Amino acid sequence: MKNILVTGGAGFIGSNFIHYMLAKHSGYSVINFDKLTYAGNLENLSAVKGVQRYRFVKGDICRKDEVLAAMRTYAVDTVVHFAAESHVDRSILGPAVFVETNVMGTNVLLDASREADIERFLHVSTDEVYGSLGATGYFTEQTPLHPNSPYSASKASSDLLVLAYQHTFGFPGVVTRCSNNYGPYQFPEKLIPLMIANALNDRPLPVYGDGLNVRDWLYVEDHCSALDTVLHRGAVGEVYNIGGHNEWKNIDIVKTVLKELGKPESLITFVKDRPGHDRRYAIDASRLQNELGWTPAHRFEEGIRKTVRWYLENRPWWERIISGEYTKYYDQQYSQR
Ligand code: NAD
Ligand code: TYD
Repeated sequence: MKNILVTGGAGFIGSNFIHYMLAKHSGYSVINFDKLTYAGNLENLSAVKGVQRYRFVKGDICRKDEVLAAMRTYAVDTVVHFAAESHVDRSILGPAVFVETNVMGTNVLLDASREADIERFLHVSTDEVYGSLGATGYFTEQTPLHPNSPYSASKASSDLLVLAYQHTFGFPGVVTRCSNNYGPYQFPEKLIPLMIANALNDRPLPVYGDGLNVRDWLYVEDHCSALDTVLHRGAVGEVYNIGGHNEWKNIDIVKTVLKELGKPESLITFVKDRPGHDRRYAIDASRLQNELGWTPAHRFEEGIRKTVRWYLENRPWWERIISGEYTKYYDQQYSQR
């Protein structure tokens, strides 16, 4: 493994992963292949801009010519695939682009990877493909897929394509499914950065439904270390769940953020629920822990403190986002709630 093509490397997890890999593996080069949709932001990578081992290519995973050109120019031998439409609420407003990018785009990327003789393909997916849990139990890799949103349905489809390519063509694909991430560079449409930004601007914090939906939160750097582990030691054709046993009710996450910021709970506003809102996610990552020896390094208290501090120290990063095109999305998503 020498030259890694990271798709979606200008997004939240992709950019964290690029920083992680360049710092950890001095012998690897990273090619960031990203279309720069609303969620892609090269500011996330300004610290590595001049680094020889890092290259940016603006390109679309739905365009095989663009993918193959990047693979050939940089003698790519490994692909880590993050590029996707990633937000459930947007998938409810408009599912088509989710099918196009997440399903069709992954299919194009798989075909290009076969043509370019890629040695290893890591497909980054989500626990949301398993659907929703009741009050007890955990998702394991054996849990049947039951995606409930257009987003999770498109991710489940892409997972199945990767596994089918492995089965049919002997393609070197491996799939990971991680729980909700939080940390630096997360786009402010997602729960934690949205609540931080609104609280800092003394705007209402819109909590969906009764606020009792549960998510299992993992600090993004721990996701990156898990991906690095699976990339090097995961078995081809297999699925690995990633998570750190860290379940929280949404309302408690929001209260924690307010406490960290010293802002009043009176900012909390309960709003109309998300249609088809999954009640609870909780992931069993014991396979990854037992077979590959991975463990998360961050406790939630530490991770959320670091995250809040990052948003406080990088105010221009998110203020630029929330004052641009995002205002239209925000109005469309929240004004009728
Ligand atoms: P993000 O929305 O922050 O970033 C997505 C990136 O993909 C952006 O840089 C965007 O420009 C790029 N992109 C979109 N369409 C593209 C295309 N056609 N061609 C090339 N690039 C394109 O997403 P994220 O939160 O960083 O998630 C990354 C991946 O991890 C996704 O596949 C997502 O399903 C998965 N995942 C996310 C979470 C989470 O909590 N955020 C949890 C588990 C898995
Ligand atoms: P989100 O960050 O969108 O991730 P996902 O839906 O992929 O889990 O949302 C996390 C949880 O927070 C989810 O239960 C929906 C809820 N939520 C709110 O209550 N208010 C909001 O404004 C947002 C964006 C999410």
